[in-house]
Amino acid sequence: MKTRITELFGIEHPIIQGGMHYVGFAELAAAVSNAGGLGTITGLTQKTPADLANEIARCHDMTDKPFAVNLTFLPSLAAPDYPAYVKAIIDGGVRIVETAGRNPEPVLPALKDAGVKVIHKCTSVRHSLKAQAIGCDAVSVDGFECGGHPGEDDIPNFILLPRAADELEIPFVASGGMGDGRSLVAALALGADGINMGTRFIATQEAPVHDKVKQALVDASELDTRLVMRPLRNTERVLDGAATQRLLEKERELGADLTIDDIIDEVAGVYPRVMLDGETESGVWSCGMVVGLIDDIPSCRELIERIMAQADDIIGERLARS
Ligand SMILES: Cc1cc2nc3c(=O)[nH]c(=O)nc-3n(C[C@H](O)[C@H](O)[C@H](O)COP(=O)(O)O)c2cc1C
Repeated sequence: MKTRITELFGIEHPIIQGGMHYVGFAELAAAVSNAGGLGTITGLTQKTPADLANEIARCHDMTDKPFAVNLTFLPSLAAPDYPAYVKAIIDGGVRIVETAGRNPEPVLPALKDAGVKVIHKCTSVRHSLKAQAIGCDAVSVDGFECGGHPGEDDIPNFILLPRAADELEIPFVASGGMGDGRSLVAALALGADGINMGTRFIATQEAPVHDKVKQALVDASELDTRLVMRPLRNTERVLDGAATQRLLEKERELGADLTIDDIIDEVAGVYPRVMLDGETESGVWSCGMVVGLIDDIPSCRELIERIMAQADDIIGERLARS
């Protein structure tokens, strides 16, 4: 299947694994890329630019296919040294960067000068148009269903994707709620050039996270995500559980007086404990509604081949017959 995204990134299948904190290590990125998709290392999971350089080198050792690095610009008290992370990416020979969070304009000149392709993750049409205007090569359009930060507009992908298709000229992928061949065909029908998946890729053999995390995803249904940090306008979709309920209770108690300091224990420093140690109730962690469609833990190759086979079947059989 050739689309503007497979052409732009030089990949076989129009399937991207989005950056995920403490999930997007070299093992997962390489497995996705080796299976013909685009794997992504999460830049800021690496504590220093030197650590990122090392992670990129490890990924090159595991695949000779293209892979990306995610650079997330989120509100944080001490901003990371972004120029140094960008340098590690360029010096490491990475050709694709996924940016997310704030406007990536400050890092674009360095990346563009080095010939790196940039795909910016956006939760609205207006931000997608801004990304196009400042010179991003593609966008990843994240609907309300998504795991992580869906923004504050609450527009699901059945509306957001065709709206993006109507307005954008650059290629875009559908992100949020994507999990199988049906999602891929639907995304293409709505105007996207491929799909980006987060949550689905956590429940794979190669995702280097604790088995308890994968099992929690298999056990959960589409009813088991919650939105937290809404009052702070930093909304995150997370898996429900004891930690999520603790946090929501604090949000209800404090109402408009809530500050980040009130909930810091539930949200800061949680990812290594959840993903690496399997302490799934030590705090809140991102998870998309697509969790309701996850009931096994395949290898990345099995997953991607299954998605492509199901998509081919839908297009060539079911839709062709009607
Ligand atoms: C556990 C987890 C951690 C994530 N961490 C990041 C991150 O650090 N940076 C980022 O840009 N997106 C992050 N995301 C968002 C994903 O890249 C992707 O956009 C999202 O998961 C897509 O929605 P889906 O989960 O429905 O597939 C994360 C998602 C999950 C589930």
